[in-house]
Amino acid sequence: MNGKDQKILVSTFEKEVCEGLTAFPKYLSSKFFYDEVGDKLFQQIMELPEYYLTRAEYEIFETHKSKIIQSFDIDKEGFDLIELGAGDGKKTKILLQELQEKECDFTYMPIDISQNAIDGLIHTLDAEMPEVAVQGQIGEYFEVLDRLKHISDRKKVIMVLGSNIGNLLHPRAIQFLKKLNNAMHAGDLLFMGFDQKKHPQKVLDAYNDKSGVTAAFNKNVLARINKELNGNFDLDKFMHWETYDPENGTAKSYLVSKERQTVDINDLSIEVHFEAWESIHTEISQKYDDDIVNWLAEESGLEITKSFSDQHKEYKDYLLTKAE
Ligand code: AVJ
Repeated sequence: MNGKDQKILVSTFEKEVCEGLTAFPKYLSSKFFYDEVGDKLFQQIMELPEYYLTRAEYEIFETHKSKIIQSFDIDKEGFDLIELGAGDGKKTKILLQELQEKECDFTYMPIDISQNAIDGLIHTLDAEMPEVAVQGQIGEYFEVLDRLKHISDRKKVIMVLGSNIGNLLHPRAIQFLKKLNNAMHAGDLLFMGFDQKKHPQKVLDAYNDKSGVTAAFNKNVLARINKELNGNFDLDKFMHWETYDPENGTAKSYLVSKERQTVDINDLSIEVHFEAWESIHTEISQKYDDDIVNWLAEESGLEITKSFSDQHKEYKDYLLTKAE
């Protein structure tokens, strides 16, 4: 590929697309899946028969909601419930309902990378639970973490659901957990979902559904490059490919070029060349067990105090505190 002329790249999207597609091997970050189309596709993914994660966590919330709230150990002062990557908040609403019924004093602070998701969530909460105090924010995980420490002076419960941490390789996950730890005061809590290791075929199926929604979701990053950066990717010339390594628990998504081709990205002034069967790595979805979560916690100065599981033990939510 050649840079036709020098360009000043402004947005993170521009910079990272340029970086990832001029690297070898090529890669793009999964955070770019989520625009209005991507949000809709992800909502479809959560309804897929193969995608067990959302239903498992939903089951945990439905079954253990009163125990979960008890474990928050809230006093009269109340608390702030901060959710990173809130999305449509479907699972969280179970807790919000329960907190309301128990007349807890709290503010719900959903944070998401997608403006579209936050707008939608605030809108539905207004209609469904008008009494709940909501303060939404837009931002990327690592960026909002710096703001978190001073977000309020009440007790904080920080939630990261859906195994969203699974998009990070262990070293980045530890960085993330350390930052969360740093934003917490003694007594604050971290409530986090970790998808568990299981039959490798079940993992593969969850990320390679029959109806092709996950493939469309993966390709949405190319559609965004076409739309937002004036690219000319032919989506039909790429295929979605999923792998799962049971040894390290890492599921990986790729887009594979079905033929030798060159793609123009006008706004970046680059041409991207693909050999036949060359890949773009787009996502990792890490799977865990208790030992790995314990290790991650320990490395980050955190401590697991409780965990909640679905009946098939396919998925777990862990409650963490600052280590003594
Ligand atoms: C939202 C990051 C948890 O990795 O399971 C679903 C995203 N990617 N299908 C996941 C996703 C493909 C999802 N997370």
